[in-house]
Amino acid sequence: ADIDLQAVHDTLVSVAFMAGRMILAANPNSISTDTKLNAVDIVTETDQAVERMVSARLRDAHPSFAFVGEETYQAGVTRVTDAPTFIVDPIDGTTNFVHSFPNACISLGLAVGRRPAVGVVYNPFQDLLFTGVRGGGSYMQRNASLEEGRGRGERVRLPLGGADAPPPPLGDLSSALVSIEWGSQRDGENFEVKARTFRRLAAARESGGAMVGGMRSLGSAALNLCACAAGQLDMYWEGGCYAWDVAAGWCILSEAGGRMVSGNPGGWDTELDSRVYLAVRGARAGQKELVEEFWGVVGDGKME
Ligand code: IPD
Repeated sequence: ADIDLQAVHDTLVSVAFMAGRMILAANPNSISTDTKLNAVDIVTETDQAVERMVSARLRDAHPSFAFVGEETYQAGVTRVTDAPTFIVDPIDGTTNFVHSFPNACISLGLAVGRRPAVGVVYNPFQDLLFTGVRGGGSYMQRNASLEEGRGRGERVRLPLGGADAPPPPLGDLSSALVSIEWGSQRDGENFEVKARTFRRLAAARESGGAMVGGMRSLGSAALNLCACAAGQLDMYWEGGCYAWDVAAGWCILSEAGGRMVSGNPGGWDTELDSRVYLAVRGARAGQKELVEEFWGVVGDGKME
């Protein structure tokens, strides 16, 4: 049966606001953390509590859909199949959250046929909401959780990209603002590829300036993708994140005219669980050229 994506979107938005209240209520001075892969891969009791709340609500609303969440994922066991699947990161940007650095969010995606179909990303610290529905466009909303007519400023809903808000053409890499993350893996060949990528992008050009106009590490994959969707970043590269980091943001980005390709040179088509991603914002022109220039600078490295 056809899925009412708009109804799923509405459910995800209300669940995102509930999660936002839980995240804001956590006292940053008493957040207890645990580590997963290593000391930079952290989880808090708030991540776990939010995931429990979200999975209960979503199973209630859509009992036939599968559920994949960061905190209940089991390596080698959990898989994203073709079935409609909620893909959830209860707190994306956990390190930021632990430091009260206000760039963290809840990321709620629905994939159908392993393609992102609905995405909702909500940063409660800034009350900033990003949404996308396949075929329905994407939006950024400020003061998102305000009820109408409360007088604390106004809710502002902006269409991202698309016919309503055509984005400007892209320039070349030397003027691009690019987000790139270290992620949690800090050893082995994958780490070498990341280190080389950072170094090559940061290096000088013979003609003056640097290979890349500016580099940022914002600490949340989902918010990096939303910033690309909103045209605030030109590109975002990361190797080592998971489907729950990207599923929602991917939908928002593609509905804004942006594109997600493999972060490994030459991969124009990529999968939800490919773990190496390159996002480029929507543009009237220059997307393909910028991606090719990026691959040219980054060169040969391939991440697993
Ligand atoms: C992490 C963030 C970070 C990225 C890591 C992710 P988490 O997610 O998105 O920006 O570099 O790869 O694991 O652990 O905060 O949900």
